[in-house]
Amino acid sequence: MSSKIVFLPGDGVGPSVTAQARAAIETVADIHGIALQCSEARMGGAAIDADGSPLPESTLAACRDSDAVFLGAVGGPKWANVPVELRPEQGLLGLRKALGLFANLRPVITLPALSSASPLKAERLANVDIMVVRELTGGIYFGKRARTDTSAFDTCEYTAEEIERVCRAAADLAKKRRGKITSVDKANVLDTSRLWRDVATQIFADEYPELEVEHLLVDAAAMHLLSRPADFDVIVTENMFGDILTDEASMLAGSLGLLPSASIGSEGPSLYEPIHGSAPDIAGLDVANPCGAILSGAMLLRHALHHAGAAAAIESAVTSCLERGIRTRDVVGADGKSVGTEAFGAAVIAELKSA
Ligand code: IPM
Ligand code: MG
Repeated sequence: MSSKIVFLPGDGVGPSVTAQARAAIETVADIHGIALQCSEARMGGAAIDADGSPLPESTLAACRDSDAVFLGAVGGPKWANVPVELRPEQGLLGLRKALGLFANLRPVITLPALSSASPLKAERLANVDIMVVRELTGGIYFGKRARTDTSAFDTCEYTAEEIERVCRAAADLAKKRRGKITSVDKANVLDTSRLWRDVATQIFADEYPELEVEHLLVDAAAMHLLSRPADFDVIVTENMFGDILTDEASMLAGSLGLLPSASIGSEGPSLYEPIHGSAPDIAGLDVANPCGAILSGAMLLRHALHHAGAAAAIESAVTSCLERGIRTRDVVGADGKSVGTEAFGAAVIAELKSA
């Protein structure tokens, strides 16, 4: 039986990085004898233009009917002034919510070969291997909000149940990794964070006594991520803190374009997307780094299709290209030479075929 993957290229650099990820997935599937049924659907600004909605019914239906969804990126200045509920980003938030994808896994690793791309000193980057688990369907992203000409508000709400399930997902990962979990909140100021800390403390003590547990305030966590990144194993945090901390953490790896992600619910299809945005300023220039997208493809093969071997093949092909100095301009090496998005994708495919 073949596995159904729906690709949502989206906007800006989304289509070009998605094309590279799809080619890598299809190549490795061919090599490993994995039967796929791939299709594409519109989402974000592209869907607003064509269908009048950032998440058309037909797109959501195709996603629900799939084994996994791959998303490029959404958004751009073209849709800056559309009504709030019609913004491209609402399509993505709506999809995450509709599929119940409450846990967003964002791995951050550093490659010695890329250390010069990071603004941090190389010795700080050694042994960095972090898994950020970002809560994805609650918090201020989904609370009541309103705006007049002179005032506005957004509200942040969490239930104990929402906190429990994401803490469990993170703790299960920590058990299979180095056994440490860091919960990040703002419990000195916010009630949602005080609830978060109480619930997290209880879950870890009752159900995961073997884990080493640390609680950090988000401002301190932002600092510790730079001063002692190798100390972290799994970080679990609420939606907006996770959004911000992972863009910061991408600079440990060297570029926002490098990081992949997987968004998982308790059942049904999961969603795979690079953590970067649509980067409209470089759209169409063939310079975007497709690594985050291609590595999201590896996460898709591992988590949704249970093909760990195929996932590892993509990961080592990407690593090998980067180590051999094949780089997009955001992570260019000492020789100053860079390749475009398509050339990088082609190099990964050649590597997969020759491995
Ligand atoms: C991300 C992005 C999204 C988010 C935007 C595009 C809505 O920044 O996936 O990190 O804030 O979740
Ligand atoms: Mg973000």
